[in-house]
Amino acid sequence: MTRNSIIDSICSAILSSGKIILSAAEEGLKITEKTSARDLVTQYDRLVQERLIAAISEMLPDAQFVSEESSAKGNIDAVDAFIIDPIDGTTNFVHRMGNCAISVAWYKSGKPFYGAVYDPFAGEFFDAKAGDGAFLNGEPIRVSDVPLKNSIVLFGTAPYNPELTDETFDLVKSVFGKCQDVRRMGSAALDICHVACGRAGFYFEATLSPWDYAAAAIILGESGGNLVDLSGNEIKLSLEKTSVVAGNKNIIAESGIINA
Ligand code: IPD
Ligand code: CA
Ligand code: CA
Repeated sequence: MTRNSIIDSICSAILSSGKIILSAAEEGLKITEKTSARDLVTQYDRLVQERLIAAISEMLPDAQFVSEESSAKGNIDAVDAFIIDPIDGTTNFVHRMGNCAISVAWYKSGKPFYGAVYDPFAGEFFDAKAGDGAFLNGEPIRVSDVPLKNSIVLFGTAPYNPELTDETFDLVKSVFGKCQDVRRMGSAALDICHVACGRAGFYFEATLSPWDYAAAAIILGESGGNLVDLSGNEIKLSLEKTSVVAGNKNIIAESGIINA
């Protein structure tokens, strides 16, 4: 199979997994707590993960997987590594809020190759192949260049790391006075995509896992955006958690959030 036909098959697997997520409305959820009452998993997270890994393994038998709901984490620097979040925004999903997504990233020997983030509730499919630009439902997207005072800023609350609560809300307070308004939407992958298509000026969160941002980072990079940590360092994909700031670098600089 060619790389392009593999990408087509991955897109089909993501779209059909989206139908599974939408079907949850009728079938009821089995909700399990992981590290705390905030950190949830459902049978749909596991089912979507299983489907995606099976579809990709059939095409690329040596592929390695780093997927949120799988305890065995593969080699993230492998020739073909897939970083998957079967449902990013599980809390939204559990509360039937929409705004959650399937996130699949394909890195080749540690380098971004292809990323897709699909919100089945909104019918929005963001994707990007390295060097080819970023797209929303097939239409090219770019980050915003409007000044911070006219921009919405998105943030995540690092909900599984309560020790980061003060830092998070201090940063929110410092940015709130400078921008049009702030939003906490509930899916890091979609937050970064909302930035990539110019809806928001930038997004930040005090800690994320690789599956939260791996695919969206490729989409953001291809839409002209930057992904750095809260110290301003470029983020190298790894299994380690990292803080993330995603956006147009001028708007990020204007916000003063780096090392605030
Ligand atoms: C979470 C969401 C949330 C963000 C958390 C993530 P999950 O992912 O992206 O918006 O604030 O940091 O862990 O647990 O729903 O896959
Ligand atoms: Ca996630
Ligand atoms: Ca998840």
